[in-house]
Amino acid sequence: MMKKNALITGNSSGLGRGLSEILLAHGYRVFGCSRRGCDLVGDIVDIRCDLRDMDGIAANLERLLDGVERLQLVVLNAGMLGEIKHISKTSLDELRRIMDVNLWPNKVILDWLLESRIRIDQIVLISSGAAVLGNKGWGGYALSKSALNMLGRLYAHEFQGTHIASIAPGLIASSMMDYLCTEADSDEFPALQRLKSAREEGVVLSPIEGAERILEALPRLREFESGSYIDLRQILAPDEYQALIEARNRA
Ligand SMILES: NC(=O)c1ccc[n+]([C@@H]2O[C@H](COP(=O)([O-])OP(=O)(O)OC[C@H]3O[C@@H](n4cnc5c(N)ncnc54)[C@H](OP(=O)(O)O)[C@@H]3O)[C@@H](O)[C@H]2O)c1
Repeated sequence: MMKKNALITGNSSGLGRGLSEILLAHGYRVFGCSRRGCDLVGDIVDIRCDLRDMDGIAANLERLLDGVERLQLVVLNAGMLGEIKHISKTSLDELRRIMDVNLWPNKVILDWLLESRIRIDQIVLISSGAAVLGNKGWGGYALSKSALNMLGRLYAHEFQGTHIASIAPGLIASSMMDYLCTEADSDEFPALQRLKSAREEGVVLSPIEGAERILEALPRLREFESGSYIDLRQILAPDEYQALIEARNRA
């Protein structure tokens, strides 16, 4: 049987690395990119690239996906958090820096994929609950993920035969979570207290658990209209999702 192929951006650490590991274990050939590179072994093709170099993305994808005719899965996962701070104290330069990782490279990648002759079954954009919650302090990140959701919705009109979903994956242990739980000011920004409690209670998923949850949800995502934003907790852990909505902006 033909192997399935998956493209994952940002697979050197955290969720992207976890996804690469799980997909390799499920028999996929994984194509990945990041600045540091991925340390996994097996059927993985991996290149180092900085997605902020948007003029270089086409050449990097041509190199990475040379000869690939079909991608059963594309996960646009690479992202950065930025500093948790008041939006009024956040400069345009800081906002641009976040958009230059979380948003615009994904547009360039989607354009390249659309133009390529590669048949693509499913595209998942890794968004965040922050895209809709609007909690104090999440400025640049929330704006970028909210715009990412709309990017997915707009591209759904143009990707015929490909299902697109933007997903909030839930809480995953990663360098982002480390920063949120240890460095950012949880007195000033109360939503951080919920994250700290979640970490203390052990309900933050490991990257592997988060990746398994995404893999499990893939068929269910296709039940939603292409271009939809779906918080995985909404469909896989409704009680957790309800608590998240109710806790909005509270400690
Ligand atoms: N952790 C959570 O609880 C959580 C919740 C909701 C959504 N998310 C989303 O999940 C995704 C993965 O985040 P994570 O938590 O796993 O954090 P992470 O460990 O920091 O992973 C971020 C990944 O993005 C890559 N990346 C960042 N900037 C890049 C650039 N300029 N060029 C190429 N690759 C770049 C990083 O690779 P290099 O540094 O090697 O380039 C790394 O592989 C992000 O989109 C994040 O917003 C995470």
